[in-house]
Amino acid sequence: MAADELVFFVNGKKVVEKNADPETTLLAYLRRKLGLSGTKLGCGEGGCGACTVMLSKYDRLQNKIIHFSANACLAPICSLHHVAVTTVEGIGSTKSRLHPVQERIAKSHGSQCGFCTPGMVMSMYTLLRNQPEPTVEEIENSFQGNLCRCTGYRPILQGFRTFARDGGCCGGNADNQNCCMNQKKDDTVTQSPCLFNPEEFMPLDPTQEPIFPPELLRLKDTPRKQLRFEGERVTWIQASTLKELLDLKAQHPEAKLVVGNTEIGIEMKFKNMLFPVIVSPAWIPELNLVEHGPEGISFGAACTLDSVEKTLKDAVAKLPAHQTEVFRGVLEQMRWFAGKQVKSVASIGGNIITASPISDLNPVFMASGAKLTIVSRGTRRTVPMDHTFFPGYRKTLLGPEEILLSIEIPYSREGEFFSAFKQASRRDDDIAKVTCGMRVLFQPGTTQVKELALCFGGMADRTISAFKTTRKQLSNFWNEKLLHEVCAGLAEELYLPPDAPGGMVDFRRTLTLSFFFKFYLTVLHKLGKEHPEDKCGKLDPTFASATFLFQKDPPANVQLFQEVPKGQSEEDTVGRPLPHLASAMQASGEAVYCDDIPRYENELSLRLVTSTLAHAKIKSIDISEAQKVPGFVCFVSADDIPGSNTTGLGDDETIFAKDKVTCVGHIIGAVVTDTPEHAQRAAQGVKITYEELPAIISIEDAIKNNSFWGPELRIEKGDLKKGFSEADNIVSGELYIGGQDHFYLETQCTIAVPKGEAGEMELFVSTQNTNKTQSFVANMLGVPANRIVVRVKRMGGGFGGKETRSTLVSTAVALAAYKTGCPVRCMLDRDEDMLITGGRHPFLGRYKVGFMKTGRIVALEVEHYSNAGNSLDLSKGVMERALLHMDNCYRIPNIRGTGRLCKTNLSSNTAFRGFGGPQGMLIAEHWMSEVAVTCGLPAEEVRRKNMYKEGDLTYFDQKLEGFTVPRCWDECLASSQYHARKNEVDKFNKENCWKKRGLCIIPTKFGISFLTPFLNQAGALIHVYTDGSVLLTHGGTEMGQGLHTKMVQVAGKALKIPTSKIYISETSTSTVPNTSPTAASVSTDINGQAVYEACQTILKRLEPFKRKNPSGSWEDWVTAAYQDAVSLSATGFYKTPNVGYSFETHSGKPFHYFTYGVACSEVEIDCLTGDHKNLRTDIVMDVGSSLNPAIDIGQVEGAFVQGLGLFTLEELHYSPEGNLLTRGPSTYKIPAFGNIPTEFRVSLLRDSPNKKAIYASKAVGEPPLFLAASIFFAIKDAIRAARAQHADNNTKALFQLDSPATPEKIRNACVDKFTTLSVTDVPGNCKPWSRRV
Ligand SMILES: Cc1cc2nc3c(=O)[nH]c(=O)nc-3n(C[C@H](O)[C@H](O)[C@H](O)COP(=O)(O)OP(=O)(O)OC[C@H]3O[C@@H](n4cnc5c(N)ncnc54)[C@H](O)[C@@H]3O)c2cc1C
Ligand code: FES
Ligand code: FES
Repeated sequence: MAADELVFFVNGKKVVEKNADPETTLLAYLRRKLGLSGTKLGCGEGGCGACTVMLSKYDRLQNKIIHFSANACLAPICSLHHVAVTTVEGIGSTKSRLHPVQERIAKSHGSQCGFCTPGMVMSMYTLLRNQPEPTVEEIENSFQGNLCRCTGYRPILQGFRTFARDGGCCGGNADNQNCCMNQKKDDTVTQSPCLFNPEEFMPLDPTQEPIFPPELLRLKDTPRKQLRFEGERVTWIQASTLKELLDLKAQHPEAKLVVGNTEIGIEMKFKNMLFPVIVSPAWIPELNLVEHGPEGISFGAACTLDSVEKTLKDAVAKLPAHQTEVFRGVLEQMRWFAGKQVKSVASIGGNIITASPISDLNPVFMASGAKLTIVSRGTRRTVPMDHTFFPGYRKTLLGPEEILLSIEIPYSREGEFFSAFKQASRRDDDIAKVTCGMRVLFQPGTTQVKELALCFGGMADRTISAFKTTRKQLSNFWNEKLLHEVCAGLAEELYLPPDAPGGMVDFRRTLTLSFFFKFYLTVLHKLGKEHPEDKCGKLDPTFASATFLFQKDPPANVQLFQEVPKGQSEEDTVGRPLPHLASAMQASGEAVYCDDIPRYENELSLRLVTSTLAHAKIKSIDISEAQKVPGFVCFVSADDIPGSNTTGLGDDETIFAKDKVTCVGHIIGAVVTDTPEHAQRAAQGVKITYEELPAIISIEDAIKNNSFWGPELRIEKGDLKKGFSEADNIVSGELYIGGQDHFYLETQCTIAVPKGEAGEMELFVSTQNTNKTQSFVANMLGVPANRIVVRVKRMGGGFGGKETRSTLVSTAVALAAYKTGCPVRCMLDRDEDMLITGGRHPFLGRYKVGFMKTGRIVALEVEHYSNAGNSLDLSKGVMERALLHMDNCYRIPNIRGTGRLCKTNLSSNTAFRGFGGPQGMLIAEHWMSEVAVTCGLPAEEVRRKNMYKEGDLTYFDQKLEGFTVPRCWDECLASSQYHARKNEVDKFNKENCWKKRGLCIIPTKFGISFLTPFLNQAGALIHVYTDGSVLLTHGGTEMGQGLHTKMVQVAGKALKIPTSKIYISETSTSTVPNTSPTAASVSTDINGQAVYEACQTILKRLEPFKRKNPSGSWEDWVTAAYQDAVSLSATGFYKTPNVGYSFETHSGKPFHYFTYGVACSEVEIDCLTGDHKNLRTDIVMDVGSSLNPAIDIGQVEGAFVQGLGLFTLEELHYSPEGNLLTRGPSTYKIPAFGNIPTEFRVSLLRDSPNKKAIYASKAVGEPPLFLAASIFFAIKDAIRAARAQHADNNTKALFQLDSPATPEKIRNACVDKFTTLSVTDVPGNCKPWSRRV
């Protein structure tokens, strides 16, 4: 049968595809076929929102056009017949006019690297298309499926809040306290709270939006016919009637039904599953029907979750409360179910039939007594959704020819109560650890149980019902006795073996009890007071808050900075909040990232082939299956390398493993094919056999096996023995800090283009390090560096992850280009990127601290261990920085720090914002908090007492000059109203038994310089053209941190010309050679000074012409100079003076200066679930005289939120064999919109010029990250309050809380009667699901 034509519209233009392949996603089609590269690929699994587009279609049941957001990475093009697609390019552009959404995110500084920005724009745009005047809450909810790794979200929300009808910016014209303009009233004249002026914004005019294609509207009544699309491996059949669908299912019982493709899409992309026949039921009216029946509301199985949510919300608003208990339970689950993009396409039937053991809806439906109608050709049956419905892992009762027609969700009855609970690692868009639905029905007028249903996800390989336990409670009364019996019953019935998949065994078991306790209290609360106490329990008022559902409070933010001095020329932008220069293009999708470069005609795709074992000999490589994949070109490996296979900073790595692999993800070879899809299939086809060798995975393994890179590093001062002997008290212990994935939104990417002559090759790379990329490629190809040009336009984030590890991809791609003679491209998929490229080093600190009763520290010894992985890379520098920050801000007279780099069989860990500093300082604050607890003194008092003073020498003998920490501290104490709030927190903790708050203030001091002395150099090149325009180049790369913007500001001030005359087009090895990586926070300092020097040379050359024509313009002088044959091109160079510290001789000065800051954070924890809420953070940061307060505040907030991820959320899980289990946003949780402090106040310290850097500024990229430790220790304080209340007297005051403080760790540390019931015995030979590394 011939395939049909697929017809859809993109940005108003009709697209007719004659060869629609069901395996092609909308994203691939937009980017590759239509050349619309504004929509980005961040994860490919619906978890980041970078690919968000708006879909519009005529809904025949509702009789209207509907608009909804969707993830283009999951939408098969075949699902888009007669759909209109709007991408970021379709709504506005810098060439014509930006859309207000694009303008506002750009001008409010909501775009740093810009890779997430088109997705943010499209989520907001879609919301406005449906709701031109949304509420702040609606705006926040519309971003549940969007991630940003740079901004810390505050500026995005603040910019978009200007669209809100409540809490938006009123330009200071109303009594709205949240309005930035109104904040000004309290402040001194020199401080400004306005980073942007909302009055400049274009108004939103909904009448100006593009219309729905008239051609599609005309089709609204034409009957639909079955469609068939044939791809290379898959056939897609769009059924138009139920009969057709059932016939098709009878013909193809193995066929999958696809509605939203949010399950199937992921199975095909990431699990390499193939479904040769796909049937789409989306058009069938019966599957989309919503019917309000006498017993409940029935939803067709293809109804989207979004539409179910809307219907249930309407029902809750209209029906009596007692009828909607179940509906409210479903809605509570929906609140935390994926993002808008997923919910608008995913179907209710898809969720049920997938039968995921962690489905959020199935436990709720099972507990509610929902009914399912199942049909096949000639049969129809209605079954209750009970424990028999899921007979096994991902299995249902459906026969092969059956489909789910509908589900009826029942109304609740008088005397019936229902709750749903879910606990995940993160609130927004995360899958559950445990999820449940709970229902009780009482005998009429009593509190005697008639029916009780407790159903759970996350506690077995399927959704289960705690039968044995509930059966015993029939006829019992709702009181403490029942509570105890149910808890004891659940603890026994819902047992998990210690090696259960998913791990966190004790936590998950405890959650089942915690949830029931919450349900018990909630029912008591709903029952009210009228029931006699002997039969029914009584709600203790201090327990009431345990029943409150998690609510988001409206955000409130303040950013304060010093305004430029009066009289500063308007043209001089230094000190002004200039938006990132590329922000408008980032918002419109025009900004070009590596993979946006149009494809070359003969371009090939590369996919890496990597090891599946942590340590093994390679026995054989068989590529015969790969060769059969269409479009296969070649396999490249070590044997193809013309130069050297040796690479890495320490010459201890290979480009391709030859005989042996030393980590899972070790690159063995690569396949080269015509398309990325074929490359993925071909890579799967390469079969490798191994001989497995013993592997060392963790720090503990390495210590046991004496497996280290290099000798021990050591730093010390004073007399440790004497110090400890004088101490009143000594505390020792250890702290483990987990690693962190960079999760830059743009994964590693390289395009290599052979030039065909003398070994020349041009590489477009997403890298922070053009120099090493060039030298590694040259070395591999055996050509001089002058044949290799590396070019970087911009990166979609780097954070250290593209400082050296980007070369893993670029050298492999360069080899493939060399071998084939064709341009070759590779952009890693998110899972490959996470597996291969390493991240922040996990650290273990073993400490011993001696102190006086007053809290004064007299001696400290810390052994640091880092998990370096399978190569040295930057691990030595990372450890050195940890050792140089082990004091944080405290004077310790007798001190010794040692560091060992554990050589393990993990992917090599590398640079990450902070570079070991945060780990060193977290250990410091950990022992500091233990000292305070042991002394019984307030932590802030002990911290202040030990703080350095101006002029003090550090233990590495660097004098502290301009030490502003005490100033920041005092300002932060005052602005946060620390002491008053501390009392409030104590009061809250007394009044609430199961919710606790914590408040903590933490300082930081971060040393600025590369520790490798020669890297503290930079170059710049400036060309002035005869029209007066200036092309500027410097050694730094733009990864979102605003470096190019700051460099243009510096050049503008130096040359005294407007920034609009200056342009930076890229970073390239052919313009500025031998550059240092853009890292260590120093790029503005060193490149800025080099730019300044280059400008001075130009100015000097122009001087005679200025003198001759003092009233002339810049252009006049430039023209005159040109006509006098004066060179208008100059280089600048800068070297930071007198830096460099030797760990061998313990001499020299490691840092040029320090950046300081202080943060105070308040949190609230839910002691029963381990959830926490970041209530408020106040930061005072010393960034010298800010070059650009908007960019600097952006760095402070972005770094803080990344630190918040490090210390509270982001957890990498490894199998005992060293296999990374968390390889994408579905399992690895970076902070989302909902994680930022509700109140977030950032203030840049006034009047604090820094004479050591360009225009008195300071480095800012890394230093604020550590301030998120204030959240970690506030959580610890809250846990301490919980332990003091619940635990028995044996509980120690000092307790272990390793980083990150995830819900699991928080819950387990809040020891109480529920945790003690859930302790699992772990036999010695148990192989847990994951292990700490
Ligand atoms: C980013 C992201 C976040 C998510 N978050 C959550 C979450 O928080 N909680 C949660 O529970 N799930 C979550 N999911 C899982 C997923 O969204 C849901 O399971 C969704 O409801 C599946 O619906 P679908 O239409 O996309 O399914 P599809 O992928 O289209 O189909 C899924 C399966 O259902 C079968 N099927 C579909 N309809 C029928 C029918 N009528 N009869 C018989 N078989 C049928 C298909 O054959 C297929 O096997 C998430 C997924 C993603 C990608
Ligand atoms: S790329 Fe589609 S959601 Fe991440
Ligand atoms: S600006 Fe959001 S990911 Fe970079």
